[in-house]
Amino acid sequence: MNDHVTEEISFDDFDELVNPKPETCDFDDVVERAIDRRDFLGGVLAFGGVAMVGGGLATEAKAAAHASSRFAFEQIATSTADDIVVPPGYSFEIVAKWGDPLTSVGVPFDHKTRGTAATQAIAFGDNIDGMEIFEDDQHTLIVVNNEYTNRKVIWEGGVPESDDDVNKGKMAHGLTIVEVADGDNGWGVVMDSPFNRRVTPDTPMEITGPARGHDLMKTAADPTGVQSLGTWNNCGSGRTPWGTYLACEENFNGYYSAEDEAHEVSPELARYGVSSKDWGYGWARTDERFDVAKHPNESNRNGWIVEVDPTDPDSTPKKRTALGRFKHENAEVVINNDGRVVIYMGDDERGEFLYRYISNGTYAPGNDTDGLMENGTLYAAKFADDGTGVWMSLSAEATGAASEGEALIHARMGGSKVGATTMDRPEWVAANPNKAEVYCCLTNNKNRGVKTNRGGDETPVGGPNPREANKYGQIVRWWPDGADHTSEGFTWDLFVMAGNPTVHTDSRAGSSNVNEGNMFNSPDGLAFDHSGLLWIQTDGKYTNEGDFAGQGNNQMLAADPATGEIRRFMVGPKECEVTGLTWTIDRKTMFVGIQHPGERGDSQWPDGSTPRSAVVAIRRDDGGLIG
Ligand code: FEO
Ligand code: CA
Ligand code: CA
Repeated sequence: MNDHVTEEISFDDFDELVNPKPETCDFDDVVERAIDRRDFLGGVLAFGGVAMVGGGLATEAKAAAHASSRFAFEQIATSTADDIVVPPGYSFEIVAKWGDPLTSVGVPFDHKTRGTAATQAIAFGDNIDGMEIFEDDQHTLIVVNNEYTNRKVIWEGGVPESDDDVNKGKMAHGLTIVEVADGDNGWGVVMDSPFNRRVTPDTPMEITGPARGHDLMKTAADPTGVQSLGTWNNCGSGRTPWGTYLACEENFNGYYSAEDEAHEVSPELARYGVSSKDWGYGWARTDERFDVAKHPNESNRNGWIVEVDPTDPDSTPKKRTALGRFKHENAEVVINNDGRVVIYMGDDERGEFLYRYISNGTYAPGNDTDGLMENGTLYAAKFADDGTGVWMSLSAEATGAASEGEALIHARMGGSKVGATTMDRPEWVAANPNKAEVYCCLTNNKNRGVKTNRGGDETPVGGPNPREANKYGQIVRWWPDGADHTSEGFTWDLFVMAGNPTVHTDSRAGSSNVNEGNMFNSPDGLAFDHSGLLWIQTDGKYTNEGDFAGQGNNQMLAADPATGEIRRFMVGPKECEVTGLTWTIDRKTMFVGIQHPGERGDSQWPDGSTPRSAVVAIRRDDGGLIG
């Protein structure tokens, strides 16, 4: 999420209106940096900068693309239909939808009322984002984040009228854990499975790691700062090799408000976008902890990575504070050659940072894993224009914080202090399973070269963020020095710059691996399958006009990391985002999330009625491997 609309503006834009960022870059600076950028692009852009110099070389790129046989599907055309499109020889089926009951106590989704707080609390949550599968011989569990809810869809008129309306919206947030099975009618929910569970904004969570018990974590309801209630606005996901799910708290700020709208929050809360005005969910109305004037520390208890054991429905989720507090996108877990756990994470806000965590201990199957995300060091990335970069420690010593707990609660300020690179909204990170190589979607950033980030850090055009007022986004990738994910240094390039070569001939046309046939904007979800194919999901503009002409609805593409070839595999229904992606172990089914179809009112997918976020299964008609 982030480009998603609340009323007519995105959450990011709402936060900027409430807490404007200073305009610091004057026009001369922008022009100068744009000129530098052209030189730079020739140097470190992967697959050559051919699209930069116009259409002449585009044919060469197309010919190269056709020569490849890495993909087991034919590229599909863009689409503006209110349905899912997959390649010839592939089919999709709906597995579960927002509001589907998980137990026989529940009731089927009511298209007229859209349910109550009580029915929603035991039904599939709304707006699916991160998704992971957990399989053994007997059970297949899917865990999804239910990032947020569209107010105009869940409530008639877009405003909660009753307290039950408010609580229904709240219960549509959190996680859904569900057992699924491949039956006579295809994949579907196993009703009443003992694994079926909702984790909501009211579920008790244990706070672990260096910030546990810190003064900034203490509240009236929890004077020792060790247990908080709930998780919400979980965006991307992660999974550990020891079989747990990682839910990543992103835009947690917009749920807080103050009865007194003139109340001013502290600069530390303002850096995280917390303000006296919420986005309209009204949670403070039924739950006082969301009144930031009365309980300012409550919001310090969000913005974390939450570890959940999906196989134990009675387990208490754990907030892993060692991984830092920011607007988390996903958490890509890598086991380094020496057994240490390395976790790459993005902070998705304009001009925020890219992070890495390294555990002190090492992972070995069967050993205790509880300390691996409690004891370690957090870093932020600093990129140089010459294609190198370094990871900067965010320890208390490095940042001047009073304690490790404070350094993690205020990780963003630590990143500013050490001079980390302000990025074009880092979304999902994905590590190549076949080599020490990592990719991150930088989705777009209209403030690049125009405004500072929320902390006042400059956002110069350059490095992995080479286009001012970046509309299309890019994917950066890096190689840790010595193929060691714990190395201080790395080298990097841009795997792709999205763009529109049918509209532009400058850098907005995109890199050479973007053409009229595969173009897209705003890469967001990103995951490798076990074969080493990289899958890209988009959360971008779907106007199909102007800068985005010919790009259709949001989509999913597959990329060959070796050649840079990118092919469109799927297009989603109207006004949706395609997000969340996982595969069965045999790679014969791919599960994909469709989030916020009809967010502006123009979709009736998938039932021909109320638009509903859904998990979709995609298979090959011949039963072969996907991709
Ligand atoms: Fe929830 Fe950054 O997307
Ligand atoms: Ca996202
Ligand atoms: Ca996004």
